[in-house]
Formats: sequence, C-alpha cells, structure tokens
Amino acid sequence: MDDTLVLCRLLHYGSGLLLFGISAFQGWLAPQHLACSLDAALARIVSVAAFIGLLSAVAWLLLASGEMGDGWSDVWNPSTWYAVLTDTEFGRVWQIHLLLAAALVSFLMSGWGRYWRFVAVLSAVYLGSLGFVGHAVMLQGAAGRVSRASHVVHLLAGGFWLGALIPLALCLGKFADTGLRSDVSRALQRFSGLGHFAVAAVIASGIINVALVLGRWPTNVSSPYQLLLLLKMGLVAVMVGLAIVNRYVLVPSLKNSENALRSLRRSTLLELALGVCVVAVVSLFGTLPPQ
Ligand code: HEM
Repeated sequence: MDDTLVLCRLLHYGSGLLLFGISAFQGWLAPQHLACSLDAALARIVSVAAFIGLLSAVAWLLLASGEMGDGWSDVWNPSTWYAVLTDTEFGRVWQIHLLLAAALVSFLMSGWGRYWRFVAVLSAVYLGSLGFVGHAVMLQGAAGRVSRASHVVHLLAGGFWLGALIPLALCLGKFADTGLRSDVSRALQRFSGLGHFAVAAVIASGIINVALVLGRWPTNVSSPYQLLLLLKMGLVAVMVGLAIVNRYVLVPSLKNSENALRSLRRSTLLELALGVCVVAVVSLFGTLPPQ
C-alpha cells in the first residue's frame, strides 16, 4: 500500500504544481498575443492535470482509510472513508480539498473562456490546502502555524517555478516567429523577475520545513528520510545552477545566437525533468518518519 500511496502523492503534487504554475504564467506573465497562441495546448494540459488531481485525491482518501484502518479491506470500505472524512484532521481538510479539485475539473470542463487568472487563484487555494496535511501538521500552537504557513508558501513557490517551465518551453518554440518574438522576450523577462522570488521562497520555506519537521540539519545518511532530503536538496541545487545559466548566459544571447535558443530550450526541459525527480523524492520521504 505504501508504494501505491507514494505514486498517488507524486501524481497529486505533480498535477497540482503544474495547474498553478501554468495558469499563473498564462494569467500574469504571457502578453495577450502570446497567451492566445499557447491557449489550446496549455488548456489541454491543465484539464488533464485537474482530472489527475481529482482522481488521485480520491485515491489518497481511500489509501489513507486503509492506513488508518485495517489495510486493504478498509481501502474499499465506505464507512471507513466517512469516519476518516468526519473524525480526523486530515479528513476535514480533505473534504475542502476534494471540493476544490471537483470545482477545478467542472470549471475546466465547462466552456470556461480561458479565465486563466481565476484558474490560478482557485488552483492556488487547492494547492495551498495541501499545506494542512502530512508532516506540516505535526506541530501545534505557534510552531504549528509557522509550519503550515511555510508549507503553503513552499508549495506555491515550487508550483510557480516548476509549473511555469512548461509554458516557458512552449513559448521558446515561438521565438522564431517574428510576430511573437517581442512577446516571448517580455514573458521571459517577467518570469525571470518573479522566478528569483519563487526560487528564494522555495529554498527559505524548505529550510524552515527542515527546522520544524526534522528539527536538525540532515547529516545522518543512514536515515532514509535524511538521505532522501539531502538528495532532494542536491537536485534543487542543480536546478538553481541551470536557472542561473539560463537567466544570465543564454537569455541575454538569444537575439544573436540560434545555438542559445536551442540550449535554453534543452536546459529548461532538463530543469523541468529534475523538478519531477524532486517531487518524486518528496512524495516518498514525506511518508517516512522524519528522523
Ligand atoms: C523545486 C524546488 C522544490 C519543490 C518543487 C518542492 C516540493 C515539495 C513538496 C511538494 C512538498 C510537500 C510534501 C509533503 O507535504 O509531504 C515539500 C516538502 C518539503 N520540502 Fe520541498 N520542494 C522544493 C525545494 C526544497 C528545498 C530546497 C528544501 C530544503 C532546503 C525542501 C525541503 C522540504 C521539506 C523538509 C519538506 C517537508 C517534507 C515532509 O513533509 O516531511 N524543499 N517540498
């Protein structure tokens, strides 16, 4: 059951991070003309992400019922689902989370007219509500409030960074189109501007998470939790390195070099692939005892 839960968490965190990042990019970073040219492709991606989000949210509830109950028999037992939803802190948060997931799917399935900003706000609340489950709620009182707030900031900053990499890679494919080139340049500038804050916020909130969830710096590599946390931090360090090269080497030379455009696209896709690995690693170690 643990492996199924880890896969379910990966799909759930991954789809939530993408939903928020893509809609924030389309809603606030892409100039009108460019946003219209990316609309159809990104609308398909967010619809699939919302659907995966709803399915994995239901699966997470069933698996949590099995974990809190007597194993697989309680995974399929509606009265255990009801007890988990009504009698546990996780369940009370999950009621709201499931409603938000269903609202996103129904809105994106209706003729939603591409209100990307509304989708960004709705998916921000949906993604942020994950900051009220798991190890984020281990602590109570003031420390508990800081831990929940830090997890919310962590998820939104991580979502902006990772999710926006998909429209960014797509819009680099439009750089050759002279009609869209200035829009693409403006979107790149806006992303790298806000991107600095997102990277700083995800690292700062990550350090706060380490302090509150683990209570010490991860140095004990014989602890699976600490080893995986160190692996995650290493992956993020490589992503930051790529982001710096993209911003300060490749983007400035875009106008004069075809090579720079190709390298920037490859590097952006590599950054995204590393991001998926980061979410996979945390989907695993978030289920382990933080010691
Ligand atoms: C691209 C950057 C990052 C992304 C996308 C990301 C993603 C996530 C996600 C989805 C969670 C929630 C998991 C859960 O609640 O179980 C999480 C938790 C966490 N993250 Fe990150 N993270 C990033 C960077 C970092 C960094 C740089 C650090 C450390 C400095 C860090 C440390 C943590 C810790 C300690 C937790 C709590 C895990 C637990 O619940 O036991 N993260 N991260």
